[in-house]
Amino acid sequence: MNAPLLRAMTASEVDRLVGWAMDEGWNPGLDDANTFYAVDPDGFIAVELDGEMVGGGAIVRHDSDFGFMGLFIIHPDHRGKGLGRMLWYARRDRLASRLASSAAIGLDGVEAMCGFYVRGGFRAATRHIRFQLARLAPAPDAAFHPVPVGLVPWEQLAEFDRTCFPSPRNAYLREWIAQPSSCSFASIEDGTLRGYAISRRCRVGWKVGPLFAEDRAVATGLLRRCWEAAGSEPIFLDVPEGNRESLAMAEEFGMEPIFHCTRMYRGPSPKLQLERVFGITTLELG
Ligand SMILES: CC(C)(COP(=O)(O)OP(=O)(O)OC[C@H]1O[C@@H](n2cnc3c(N)ncnc32)[C@H](O)[C@@H]1OP(=O)(O)O)[C@@H](O)C(=O)NCCC(=O)NCCS
Repeated sequence: MNAPLLRAMTASEVDRLVGWAMDEGWNPGLDDANTFYAVDPDGFIAVELDGEMVGGGAIVRHDSDFGFMGLFIIHPDHRGKGLGRMLWYARRDRLASRLASSAAIGLDGVEAMCGFYVRGGFRAATRHIRFQLARLAPAPDAAFHPVPVGLVPWEQLAEFDRTCFPSPRNAYLREWIAQPSSCSFASIEDGTLRGYAISRRCRVGWKVGPLFAEDRAVATGLLRRCWEAAGSEPIFLDVPEGNRESLAMAEEFGMEPIFHCTRMYRGPSPKLQLERVFGITTLELG
């Protein structure tokens, strides 16, 4: 057996990695592989053994001050042999080398791996709780008339987004809005953006993310529209535990918690208006 090789991934390998994410029960979006790869084609590293990809992960550079590590998977046939450790440290260091020395790196860790990430220099910030919508409680608001996010002037959208995400993320935002199997809703009042939601079709149901809004009333209106657009299929929302209003909204909708991760950072803590973050965009790219 030759020594493991670390190298960049191709688009079709990212597609395979997302397939493995499906096997893990992460319920990826139908367009995730294409969209993730388009955000940062240099942001995926594979570990290869004897010519075969046996693991991989994302190291996406959102801008010079923020990067994100996600989709960390070793194929089940090759676990427990140190390949994950090798891949993770190589990814961490390669991502750091693509960022400013003062940059932050984020990840969303499953409970079992948090100790490993702490040993690798990360610290916990907040938990992200995945809720599934089981029934719909709030009454429809007839006066709520959102528009597609693509109609919001870019500067306004990017400015609002910047208050809810650790850095500017032009590539991510543009690709996310353009996904084929998605719908989006933005609330604009008196020419001012109050919040927006993007919902993408997944292997099972739809995931709503981001759901960014200036208050719970706007978030509730947007989430209801996402629910209506999903028809009879379930919807999922990844809620930061630090946003009490979002937890209260999930309870009002009768949503059930089904899974959680811990958002962790290495480097400076990003400054966010967490009270606007009713649902994060993804656990894979931040
Ligand atoms: C997590 C994963 C990538 C680890 O790959 P691996 O090749 O088995 O890992 P290694 O053998 O190199 O071990 C790496 C470290 O992870 C720890 N680890 C691996 N699996 C673990 C588990 N199930 N529970 C606790 N720790 C675990 C090991 O103890 C080791 O830590 P140490 O080096 O500090 O002792 C692999 O188990 C996997 O693909 N799991 C499913 C997907 C997943 O959960 N990814 C992480 C999402 S945050």
